[in-house]
Amino acid sequence: MTAETRSTVRLLLGWTPVDIAVADSNQTVLQYLRDQPQLKGSKEGCAEGDCGACTVVVGALKDGAIRYSAVNACILFLPAMDGKQILSVEQVADTELHPVQQALVELHGSQCGYCTPGIVNSLLCLNLNGGAADRQAIDDALIGNLCRCTGYGPIIEAAEKACSTELSAAWKTRIAAAQKQLLSWAADDQALALETRNGPYLAPKTPDQLAAALDAHPAATLVAGATDVGLWVTKLGRSLNPLISVAEVADLQSMRLTDSHLEIGAAVTYSEAHQALSEISESLGELVRRIGSRQVRNSGTIGGNIANGSPIGDMPPALIAMGASLVLRSRAGRREIPLQDFFIEYGKQDLRPGEFVGRVLVPRKLDTFRCYKVSKRFDQDITAVLGAFNIAIENGAVVSARIAYGGMAGVPARAVGCEAALTGKPWNMKTIETAKVALDADFKPMTDMRASAAYRTLAARNLLERFYLETQNPAVALELASRNHMKGLVDG
Ligand SMILES: Cc1cc2nc3c(=O)[nH]c(=O)nc-3n(C[C@H](O)[C@H](O)[C@H](O)COP(=O)(O)OP(=O)(O)OC[C@H]3O[C@@H](n4cnc5c(N)ncnc54)[C@H](O)[C@@H]3O)c2cc1C
Ligand code: FES
Ligand code: FES
Repeated sequence: MTAETRSTVRLLLGWTPVDIAVADSNQTVLQYLRDQPQLKGSKEGCAEGDCGACTVVVGALKDGAIRYSAVNACILFLPAMDGKQILSVEQVADTELHPVQQALVELHGSQCGYCTPGIVNSLLCLNLNGGAADRQAIDDALIGNLCRCTGYGPIIEAAEKACSTELSAAWKTRIAAAQKQLLSWAADDQALALETRNGPYLAPKTPDQLAAALDAHPAATLVAGATDVGLWVTKLGRSLNPLISVAEVADLQSMRLTDSHLEIGAAVTYSEAHQALSEISESLGELVRRIGSRQVRNSGTIGGNIANGSPIGDMPPALIAMGASLVLRSRAGRREIPLQDFFIEYGKQDLRPGEFVGRVLVPRKLDTFRCYKVSKRFDQDITAVLGAFNIAIENGAVVSARIAYGGMAGVPARAVGCEAALTGKPWNMKTIETAKVALDADFKPMTDMRASAAYRTLAARNLLERFYLETQNPAVALELASRNHMKGLVDG
């Protein structure tokens, strides 16, 4: 350990500062909590981020103030909590139940109770963040919390009753003290460098430190929000050694607006980027809102979604159609590449040894743009097919077309034949029919548990037609989108 690094994790466990000599860098926050004598309230349902039983509230500094977010403790590594506050269900009640707990009791919002600690924490977070707790906000807060036996009616009623209540003076005082503690820790600027029985865990604070760490540990696994990487441990039983976190690199946590682009650092979470992306495109904002659950979006990053190279990651097809590019960094310097060139083939990305994703550059000015996710469930589900369309139409003809799909090949990719069939042609149904035939030749999708090849081919064609129809009557499109949203909430 050098003067600039620290070898123990310090955090606020509830309201108490603790210093933890972490024995295993792969230990999850949930495992840690359940190892403590008085903290067995958080439950493990799925250990893969899907059910929300393990939801805890994490307080972290953002622009000097403490911000709370609900996260899945089962897939988060404990060292990622360094310098933060964990609130588990044991800290929710004072001498009396918190209003959220009281309302759940009074309105019969719990039967077996296995899901209840996670639900309490999701609703506590809604309450801590203030503002209106309307039906949409409540649904959004609960999408990641599965309850099998109570039914959502009483839970939602309890949320409506309790979430808009003013925080008590005692809570406000405690939060102010917690913020002071986190600020004092942040001031010393020490990077975490753990040696554990499972190898090192490093959390550099600058891009240069990150590049140096990768250089020293070329076989290391990079981790951002761990919503993919965490499952490699909990579901695949892998031991990740060494682990290098990109999440504490200040430069990667920031977003910047230039005249032409929104630059998103690789450690920025979906929740943090949501508003800025919605301002570029409402359709893109809606796509982000449908990624996982609130808990997944509070941890997961766009950088991680790109770097994992999944053919069914939601952001890459949309960003490829928008013409986004990537800044890749290493000790050797930085290079910028179009995002579409990053995906070489299934499981192979254009990431050289020692390189990491630094920023994603998202163009702010688009042509007519829409992206559509097709999945079995509306919310909290992985994509079967995703189509993204960015098309310039002038005087009734297509001037340029950028179209990309996910779920149709081993990598997210542009539909080059379809684009060629559209470009220079009149923007009408006849052209769309021709372009659909060209689209068939662009991809040879596979059959898997999410969809058959025939379904994917048909869905891809239909998304192109949907895009065309929406450009003919955008008002109908908006109405359709909101109807789908409501349907998702009712079904969900
Ligand atoms: C319940 C659940 C629901 C989900 N739903 C969706 C969904 O609807 N749509 C969707 O697309 N995905 C979904 N995911 C997958 C996941 O949330 C996303 O892929 C997320 O964007 C990953 O980001 P992360 O920060 O958690 O990445 P991590 O898990 O930390 O890392 C992912 C990969 O990227 C690498 N990596 C991370 N940062 C960098 C970097 N800066 N440079 C180089 N490599 C890096 C890691 O080594 C790893 O290979 C879901 C996951 C869960 C658990
Ligand atoms: S245990 Fe299911 S989300 Fe964590
Ligand atoms: S109360 Fe039993 S699963 Fe929710």
